[in-house]
Amino acid sequence: MQQTTLFERMGGLAFFEELVERFYEGVESDPVMRAMYPDDLEPGKAALALFFAQYWGGPGTYSEVRGHPRLRMRHAPFQIGERERDSWLAHMSSALDALDVPAAERQEFDTYFVMAAEHMVNH
Ligand code: HEM
Repeated sequence: MQQTTLFERMGGLAFFEELVERFYEGVESDPVMRAMYPDDLEPGKAALALFFAQYWGGPGTYSEVRGHPRLRMRHAPFQIGERERDSWLAHMSSALDALDVPAAERQEFDTYFVMAAEHMVNH
């Protein structure tokens, strides 16, 4: 049994900010993905990092600022099909590759992302 949260094991918010920064570098390099995102990427980056931190046992700042996550509802404005799901996962996977994530934690991330990305498909 793990004694600590994934948030703590990864060293706190800085890890999730770095992960999100790398993920968004992938988004910016991918014209199909970039077109789905707004001109100003900074608010989305902040929200995603805070969401991950909260989801993996860190502070509840995301919900204090944004309210209940309702992620599927928040993604309703975007047409997310299998292609978008797979692009999202590929950029997140590259972001994880670039950071030194131990195998056990990597497994937890991969399992969650595959499940959550599938849940976001709406098209
Ligand atoms: C593991 C699956 C996913 C998770 C956990 C996730 C999480 C999030 C979160 C937390 C936000 C910010 C919500 C807020 O404003 O409070 C967000 C925004 C967004 N997501 Fe996702 N998402 C996922 C999958 C996807 C997929 C598959 C796409 C489509 C390719 C996508 C496209 C977007 C877009 C376009 C935004 C808006 C960004 C902005 O307004 O700056 N997401 N997502």
